[in-house]
Amino acid sequence: MTCGKNPSPFLLLLCLLHRSEESCPSVCLCISDSASCSSSGLTKLPLLLPSFSVTLDLSHNHLSWLGPGSFYRMPRLENLRMAHNQIGSLSHGVFHNASGLRHLDLSSNKLHVVEQHYFQGLWRLEELLLFNNKIAQVEPGTMRGLSSLKKVYFSLNQITHFPFFSIQDHTHPFLAMLDLSSNRMSRLPWEDVKALPGLVQRGLYLHNNSLICDCSMYSVFWHWDLRGYDSIRDFTDEHTCSVTGDPRASIRFLRHNRFFRNCTVEEAVSEPVTVLLSSVLVPERETVRLDCQTSLNSTDLSFTWLSPSKGYITQANANDTLISLFPNGTLEIQEARVNDSGLYVCTAVDIKQSLNATREVNVTVLLPAAESFNTGYTTLLGCVVTLVLILMYLYLTPCRCSCCKQPKPPVIPIATYDPSTLTSVFCPSTRDQCKIPTDRHVAFIEPMTNEEGIEWTPVS
Ligand SMILES: *[C@@H]1O[C@H](CO)[C@@H](O)[C@H](O)[C@H]1NC(C)=O
Ligand SMILES: *[C@@H]1O[C@H](CO)[C@@H](O)[C@H](O)[C@H]1NC(C)=O
Ligand SMILES: *[C@@H]1O[C@H](CO)[C@@H](O)[C@H](O)[C@H]1NC(C)=O
Ligand SMILES: *[C@@H]1O[C@H](CO)[C@@H](O)[C@H](O)[C@H]1NC(C)=O
Ligand SMILES: *[C@@H]1O[C@H](CO)[C@@H](O)[C@H](O)[C@H]1NC(C)=O
Ligand SMILES: *[C@@H]1O[C@H](CO)[C@@H](O)[C@H](O)[C@H]1NC(C)=O
Ligand SMILES: *[C@@H]1O[C@H](CO)[C@@H](O)[C@H](O)[C@H]1NC(C)=O
Ligand SMILES: *[C@@H]1O[C@H](CO)[C@@H](O)[C@H](O)[C@H]1NC(C)=O
Repeated sequence: MTCGKNPSPFLLLLCLLHRSEESCPSVCLCISDSASCSSSGLTKLPLLLPSFSVTLDLSHNHLSWLGPGSFYRMPRLENLRMAHNQIGSLSHGVFHNASGLRHLDLSSNKLHVVEQHYFQGLWRLEELLLFNNKIAQVEPGTMRGLSSLKKVYFSLNQITHFPFFSIQDHTHPFLAMLDLSSNRMSRLPWEDVKALPGLVQRGLYLHNNSLICDCSMYSVFWHWDLRGYDSIRDFTDEHTCSVTGDPRASIRFLRHNRFFRNCTVEEAVSEPVTVLLSSVLVPERETVRLDCQTSLNSTDLSFTWLSPSKGYITQANANDTLISLFPNGTLEIQEARVNDSGLYVCTAVDIKQSLNATREVNVTVLLPAAESFNTGYTTLLGCVVTLVLILMYLYLTPCRCSCCKQPKPPVIPIATYDPSTLTSVFCPSTRDQCKIPTDRHVAFIEPMTNEEGIEWTPVS
């Protein structure tokens, strides 16, 4: 019906009648293109909803169920807000004739299962808010056909499994936010997670779940951390995993990574690829040695270092007076300069068995002015970290807090936290001035490429 320009008096009357017939329900407030029926004590949908509305707000009511075709008279509906109701399920065809929906808010309701028919046909849907429900299960077909999705929020539910495999580049090209934080996932299908489109991985939030610590999990988060994803940076401390399955023994694994020292990732049956990553702080003009201890323990290894400033360093070309490569793979940098900072990657190759392994060290050269501060800070931080660890494993380790009062380098607590070869490796050659790495990451990762999205090498 056209009630627009210059209608005849008869048509005008019809129009008015029509308008009044479909006009605003008494409990709602209707303005131009939106209708607000929030906090109106509604227990069911008003029979006549304004057909002209683009936005309908039904939040903060007592709605518990939505029947088929609930919104079929609202062809222009784009934003539907139903947060804070009692909705426990949606019947088939709820959104029949509402395929224009772009934003759907069903947060803070009582949904238990997200059935695959719930959002069928909503191919224009961009934002789906389902946080703070009671969702324990998301059926695999739920997101099928929702090809315009940009953001989906499943946070604060009881989800134990999520159908990651149903999200692919061609099915959800715009999906850039998938919030699954604060759920109950303990083991994820990491191969499916790694196969997610790069955009989805960047926007995948998984913190505050009940993850169980293992190498494949750590490796995934380590990658995301390295890429500086917001999901990791903004919630570093909320990323916890439990060692034994006991939630009390949960660790903030992005901060304390000692449990992942022994991780191995098999790249192919015969080719274990080992990447150990650590970081070291060096005062300017000091000498630093970086070792290349990898999982390979053959005596017949050849070593290559890739340095940020000097490119590839091999035994053959290391005749620079300031950088030397020892036969055991240790790289020595004398008189380190600020511009020597960066990521050093060592590759050890066992020619006989055609195995190779890589190790990365993030070297940061500090200006002298920062040194004294940093030494104290490092020791203090070491103490704090150890204290936290001790508290965490209270039941296993008796507390020895004296370290904080006597911060003497030889008994630096972080050394107990990291008993491998590091102390000798990262000490400047003047032994009495041993510097301790503040933050040593150890992980096994697959070879990386810089491309987003194709960063994962298939792992057997
Ligand atoms: C609802 O959709 C059907 C097709 O699915 C269509 O035939 C019908 O006219 C629509 N009804 C309204 C009120 O838009
Ligand atoms: C973690 O999740 C639980 C529910 O699983 C929730 O009660 C708690 O508020 C969440 N904590 C944070 C910091 O998000
Ligand atoms: C790592 O391996 C060493 C030797 O194989 C073992 O003594 C140590 O307990 C392991 N550490 C962890 C955290 O599993
Ligand atoms: C030492 O370095 C120079 C370039 O600085 C190079 O020409 C020469 O071949 C190197 N010597 C060895 C033994 O590699
Ligand atoms: C490698 O050799 C150098 C020089 O001989 C030595 O100082 C260093 O400790 C050795 N590194 C390892 C890990 O054995
Ligand atoms: C690094 O800095 C030093 C002086 O601080 C300079 O002599 C040297 O050329 C620089 N090296 C590079 C690769 O820029
Ligand atoms: C390490 O092994 C992989 C797989 O065989 C190979 O592609 C790569 O070139 C090797 N790297 C080095 C530095 O030899
Ligand atoms: C290396 O360490 C510096 C300072 O600690 C940090 O800013 C930088 O992001 C690190 N680089 C990598 C690749 O981890």
